Amino acid sequence: MESIVSKILQHQKFSIPEILILLNAENEDERLLYQKAREIKLLNTGDKVYLRGLIEFSNVCDKDCFYCGIRKSNKRIKRYFLSDEEVIKASRFAFSNKYGSIVLLSGEMKSEKFVERIERLVKQIRQITGDEFGITLSCGEQSKTTYLRWFKAGATRYLLRIETANENLYNKIHPNDRSHDFQSRVNSLAVLKKIGYQVGTGIMVGLPGQTLLHLAEDILFMKKLDIDMCGIGPFIEHHETPLFHHNNIWDLDSRFDLTLKVLAIIRIMMKNINIAASTALQSIDKFGREKAIQLAANVFMPNLTPVHYREDYSLYDNKSCVKESPDDCQICTTARIEMVNGNIAFGEPGDSTHYILRKSKV
Ligand code: 5AD
Ligand code: FES
Repeated sequence: MESIVSKILQHQKFSIPEILILLNAENEDERLLYQKAREIKLLNTGDKVYLRGLIEFSNVCDKDCFYCGIRKSNKRIKRYFLSDEEVIKASRFAFSNKYGSIVLLSGEMKSEKFVERIERLVKQIRQITGDEFGITLSCGEQSKTTYLRWFKAGATRYLLRIETANENLYNKIHPNDRSHDFQSRVNSLAVLKKIGYQVGTGIMVGLPGQTLLHLAEDILFMKKLDIDMCGIGPFIEHHETPLFHHNNIWDLDSRFDLTLKVLAIIRIMMKNINIAASTALQSIDKFGREKAIQLAANVFMPNLTPVHYREDYSLYDNKSCVKESPDDCQICTTARIEMVNGNIAFGEPGDSTHYILRKSKV
């Protein structure tokens, strides 16, 4: 007899009850879920894997999120900024090794000095790389004016994770003040989209207090927002943060399995978006990122941060690639992607098909 999971996968109608059933899928049902996700991935994005060179620009952060190792109350890390030369060198490395795109990732700062620096760096990178290169920013919540300045400077994509789409849970994992306001974050995503960025968001899976219902709401939130890109990883405690001491019903292995399920459901529901294989997956399972590529993800992010800073961009404990150099990650990435028969799309910016179609309708 046909299982209910198999029926849902055929009918492709997804509201909360169906998503909950998929999140609970086990054994043969779980296998069916992954098989369907893989089928849809190959049909819509092929076997191509796009490379995004990750540049962790600075770990200075004005925010104090309860889960994050670079929160401003953590006095036990060395704060750093890459120099302009280091950012440009990393960008050149990505360009000459045909990565197709970079992501400039940073703690959140709103000072004019920071905004101006990012603007200047984006302009320089754009000048070096020409039009056919993806420049993604992930520098937190900013004003509309700032987002516009960075867009005009040449940034084409922006990543801002909602972390959880449930306002109550959001308030439990952030301080209760104006700079950690759920609605402002939602609003930032709308502003980014209106400006014309390719917009990515995502969540953490396995947060204390998070339920399967929350995850189902998160998936529907992303669907409704009509996102172009998605980055999702398991929550992993950092020993210098308040959530380290929190009771968590999810052990690391179940967070990992659940993350793969969420990714599979997202691929099935949002067929042509770009999905990243998050670094956090590899902190739990040595082949975490490859498993994500096998069933749903089509973006891999080799780290390009100069090695002596990596240890200090510690969002969570046991982060991978902290001792490796950009060259090590380059060699390792190729081997890892080949291991799962992925086809590295060298030199392609890899705009999400969802974004290309969205723009062609305007
Ligand atoms: N575990 C997993 N992911 C984390 N992030 C921050 N802290 C953690 C953690 N403890 C993620 C957030 C953020 C992204 C840059 O890193 O989702 O948006
Ligand atoms: Fe960095 Fe493998 S990708 S060491």
